[in-house]
Amino acid sequence: MKRYGNIIGWGKYIPSRVITNADLEKTLDTSDEWIVTRTGIRERHIADNGENTSQMSIAAARAALEMAGVHPKDLDLIIIATSSPDYLTPPISSQVQHGLGAKNVGAFTLVTGCTGFVYALSTAQQFIASGACKTILVVGAELLSRFIDWNDRETCVLFGDGAGAVVIQATEVPSGVLSFVLGSDGSGGEHLILPAGGSAIPPSHKSLDAGLHSVKMNGREVFKFATRVLGKALRQVIQQAGLDTQDIDLFIPHQANIRIIESAARFANLPSEKVFVNIHKYGNTSAASIPIALCEAFEEGRAKIGDTLAFVAFGAGLTWAAAIVKVTENVKPTPKPLWQNLFTGWLSRDHHVKKEGRRPISANETLSEPEVENT
Ligand code: ACO
Repeated sequence: MKRYGNIIGWGKYIPSRVITNADLEKTLDTSDEWIVTRTGIRERHIADNGENTSQMSIAAARAALEMAGVHPKDLDLIIIATSSPDYLTPPISSQVQHGLGAKNVGAFTLVTGCTGFVYALSTAQQFIASGACKTILVVGAELLSRFIDWNDRETCVLFGDGAGAVVIQATEVPSGVLSFVLGSDGSGGEHLILPAGGSAIPPSHKSLDAGLHSVKMNGREVFKFATRVLGKALRQVIQQAGLDTQDIDLFIPHQANIRIIESAARFANLPSEKVFVNIHKYGNTSAASIPIALCEAFEEGRAKIGDTLAFVAFGAGLTWAAAIVKVTENVKPTPKPLWQNLFTGWLSRDHHVKKEGRRPISANETLSEPEVENT
């Protein structure tokens, strides 16, 4: 029997500090009019000094886990997609695993820029399909404001911070990632690069003086690349799922630029009412943009249980990724054999998925702390 990874919970974390285009006008040679017409962005949320990527990931993950009715220690795997971790090492995935109290749960970080969440979701689906895992947490989180030159008007107006998370769980009901397309063209890597801080150019006074520790972008080249690959990837992934454009209930694209989103939707013949856009509020939150948009689409009633969704993203690498995702009603996972239940106490805990009552949790809602086992 084929196994699918249904999305059974979702959550997001958005930092409270807002920087509007009017705020940027005070320090940069830019205007609200330029930013809105060229990008669609009106404001973005920027993390405070005390916040970091792992904390944002944990907050989003807790919301998703609570909605799913899954305790962190019952996860089989955690995948964090980010290009802006707290540290080069230790991996942020282990920080999140520990912070959630997901004792000894396997965790890894996936770095493919803005496509990270779609790559991670497609990867998680493989662990479910193979039977290796039953319940997986996938997070897309980004704190790119720390890696931006706030004097570079071509990049700093674009980005915002935030995190989004989903919990996926094995079911035999066709759901989750029905098809996916992953692509990469490293020949364009120089068009979106953070030159220093890695092994190629380790940090030095020279690299700092040369301003090599912030994102450098050739906006026009990235724009051309995005409009070339997005519509194509979208068509391909719809076809691969054996569907037609009209079978897609909602298109949730990476929120990088409204003109890029509109071009991809046009190419795939998707009418604007089937396109979810929240770029005006958050800017480009990179790997967090699709899971944040997914949460908001459900909160606003634009997405519903039973819907077939299309995700598509492009980003650093350069990379692209698309997935067709169906979200079905929660179904109980296939029970474990009795001997396993006796050992794990699985039956005695109310952590299994509830059949009904899935309830989105808003960003401001207080979330209960998970129990952390003593070591
Ligand atoms: N305010 C005012 N003027 C600006 C600004 C600004 N913030 N930024 C650039 N300009 C100027 C340029 O200097 C240029 O001036 P010039 O004609 O005198 O040289 C003029 O505006 C037009 O510049 P273009 O680059 O042609 O503007 P364009 O319409 O291409 O828009 C933009 C630029 C918004 C960056 C666009 O190219 C774009 O969105 N590219 C994709 C970027 C992207 O998505 N990056 C992230 C992808 S990966 C990820 O998501 C992490």
